[in-house]
Amino acid sequence: MENEINALKEQLAASRQEPRADAEQFRLKFLSKKGSVSVLIDAFRALPPDEKKKWGKDLNQLKAAAEAIYEDLKQGEAASVDTVATHVVFDIPVYLHEPGGKHPINLVRDEMLQIFSKLGFEPAEGPELEDDWHNFGALNFAENHPARDMQDTFFAGDRVLRTHTSSVQIREMESKKPPLRLVMPGRVYRNEAVSARSNCFFHQLEGLYIDENVSFADLKQTLFYFVSAFFGEGTKIRFRPSYFPFTEPSAEMDIWAGTETEEDRRLTKGTGWLEILGCGMVHPNVLKNCGIDPEKYSGYAFGMGLDRIAMLRYGVKDIRDFFHNDIRFLQQFAAY
Ligand code: DAH
Repeated sequence: MENEINALKEQLAASRQEPRADAEQFRLKFLSKKGSVSVLIDAFRALPPDEKKKWGKDLNQLKAAAEAIYEDLKQGEAASVDTVATHVVFDIPVYLHEPGGKHPINLVRDEMLQIFSKLGFEPAEGPELEDDWHNFGALNFAENHPARDMQDTFFAGDRVLRTHTSSVQIREMESKKPPLRLVMPGRVYRNEAVSARSNCFFHQLEGLYIDENVSFADLKQTLFYFVSAFFGEGTKIRFRPSYFPFTEPSAEMDIWAGTETEEDRRLTKGTGWLEILGCGMVHPNVLKNCGIDPEKYSGYAFGMGLDRIAMLRYGVKDIRDFFHNDIRFLQQFAAY
């Protein structure tokens, strides 16, 4: 019995190695009535009881192993039938679809648009390639006025890559009648030295409100509302007088970014304050340039830096990180 069991074990092991074993052939050879496993079991049945005790377990294992091989062979055939029928090749790895996410600048933009929409501001957009009139002239930058040097410009023939989204204000005021309450997001370009805090292109959200009797107090109130809605109540801000040719009076707003780390000091030039917007009351010349009567209407405008706001929101210390398209950076925002 021992020899026969061992011989059969070897045969079964050999049949496993065969690359294209046929399930039916295997069944006939081992498991059918005349198959070697069945024949051995018949022989076993004729053994005296103490011999049966000795070999029963081995034989059961052998039979179970033969049945398992038979099942495997059958399944292998079923799979290969499928392969042929559907032309699916099973050993090519499946690439799982990784869901994309919004870019952090877009996340911030969308949240800002939502906050301003609660105050009745509607979104508008304009072209990135602008003419001199919309980027400068209509905004009260005199020809050869030194203020044009404030924004180092990329020229493209007789046009410019817009240096700010204030150009969209002009387009909107030219084509619509007050009252106007608009927010205008977009990309802008400046021929500046690239550093952790400035890039040669960045993003702004322009705001414009034109109506009768709009005051500087309305402007402040709107900006303060925005800061507490976006950054939370009690956010430390600073409001400073400033100059822009298209607003009078003009101001800038800073947010406290801190001075604890080397990066914070670099980002804020050591002051702890990060400038996030310029604003002011729309200059009467600008209203006139767009065909709006400055005796009847007044208004305020602001231009916010989306990249800086995103840096504060997400603790990004270098503006250039937003545009390397490094998947390890971008994936951190996929869950927002
Ligand atoms: N256009 C200015 C800039 O890019 C920002 C700005 C200042 C926009 C004052 C405004 C404004 O609308 O009223 O630096």
